[in-house]
This record gives sequence, structure tokens and C-alpha cells, in this order.
Amino acid sequence: MGTVENKKEVWQYFFEKPKKNYNKYMFEMVEYPDYLMYDNEKVDSYKGKWNEFFGNDNDIFLEIGCGSGNFTVGNAEKFKDRNYIALELRFKRLVLGARKSQKRHLKNILFIRKRGETVLEFIGENEISGMYINFPDPWEGEEHKRLINKELFERMDIILKKGGKLYFKTDHQQYYEDVLELLKEIDGYEVVYHTDDLHNTEKAAENIKTEFEQLFLSKHNMNIKYVEIEKK
Ligand SMILES: C[S@@+](CC[C@H](N)C(=O)[O-])C[C@H]1O[C@@H](n2cnc3c(N)ncnc32)[C@H](O)[C@@H]1O
Repeated sequence: MGTVENKKEVWQYFFEKPKKNYNKYMFEMVEYPDYLMYDNEKVDSYKGKWNEFFGNDNDIFLEIGCGSGNFTVGNAEKFKDRNYIALELRFKRLVLGARKSQKRHLKNILFIRKRGETVLEFIGENEISGMYINFPDPWEGEEHKRLINKELFERMDIILKKGGKLYFKTDHQQYYEDVLELLKEIDGYEVVYHTDDLHNTEKAAENIKTEFEQLFLSKHNMNIKYVEIEKK
């Protein structure tokens, strides 16, 4: 699909047929061309070429399910010599992330509307230096729908550089335990750090909080579980 001349036409990227009512943030997505990509053909055309997009050879980090972007925006602000790609599905959250990036004049961040499961469509071999999954939906009772499973590691085998890590934070004790258990069966990856109380470790000082993390800490006083998994 080419570019949309009129922002009223943007629905065509997301729906087969026109609908009566749309989420207003869907239209707003077109206002951040430097920060937000929603045209999947364009996204896929950058496969293996994201360094060209960012205009440098810096490492690229990927966040799946970034919410409103606090974590990736915080990282992009702190580490100007790294590039960040953040995936999210919800229009409003993508727009909020793009707005924050524009306000800070960041040059090393891009929000993309894609599912985490589709990374092989638009990320090339060894293109990623690290990956973040923060507070993914736990899918209680429907655990097969979780983002972190064997298939995720199969995809990471292709896109993640050797020595790169997957960083996982959750409030969910069972998801945390299940991931540690899963890693016993996965060759080529090693849990190099884990804690069930991130905010009482030496890592707390450098930790950048996500929106959900903020909420779990302030409202629910919960312990945050955290795992670092390295590709060997
Ligand atoms: C519980 S929220 C956490 C958001 C953020 N990481 C945080 O910690 O504040 C999970 C987010 O993942 C997004 N999400 C769910 N499934 C996804 C998928 N398959 N690919 C990309 N994003 C997904 C949801 O839209 C939601 O914003």
C-alpha cells in the first residue's frame, strides 16, 4: 500500500472493510512519521537494513509489547549510542510513545505496530543486540498464548546476536517460574541472572520502570520478578 494522502483513509492499513466508528488514536498515528511506522509493507522493507533507517551502525534493541513507551523512551534517552525498536498493538499506546519521543527530539527510537510473533517478517539475521519483554500478559488458563515460549527462542536464534540477552520483567510469580523452568529445556540459552525482588537488588538503581511496573509498585506494593537470559 502506498502512502495515505488523507488521514481519514488510514483505516485501510488495519481493516478489510470500513467501520462505523474508529479509535481516534488510529488517525493520530499518521502525525509521527519519524517515530511511528504502521505500514507493514514499509516495515518489512527494512528487514536487515534497520541500521540504514537509523543512519548509524549502533546496536539495535527490540522491545515487545512496549505499552505507552516509558521504558524504551527512557532507554533511548539514556543510551543515545543505541537504537531502539518498540512493538505494540494498541493505537493509543503507540501514539503516546511517539509523542514522548518527539517531545524529547530522540533520533534513536521507532515504534512499530506489529505483533511480537511476526519479528521474522521484518528483522534480519543477527540484527538485534538485545530484547526486552516487560510485564507481558500472563494468559492465566491459556498459557499457550504467552509471548515467552519455545517458538520465541527459535525466532531469537535467527535475529539475536550471540552474547545478546533477553530481559524479562513480570509481576506474575507463575510466569517467572515457568520461564525459569522452560529455560532448562532450551539449548543455547542460559539464565545469567534472576531475582524475585528486583527492587531490592543492586540492579534497582539502573532499572528503568515501565508504566505497569510503576503501577504494581505504587498501588499494589508487589515484588517485581526479573530474568536475564543470554544467547551462548
Ligand atoms: C500488560 S501490558 C505491559 C505494557 C508495558 N510493557 C509495561 O510494562 O508497562 C502488555 C502490552 O503488550 C501488548 N501486547 C500484547 N500482545 C502483544 C503481541 N503479541 N505483540 C506485541 N504487543 C503485544 C499489549 O497491547 C499491552 O500494551
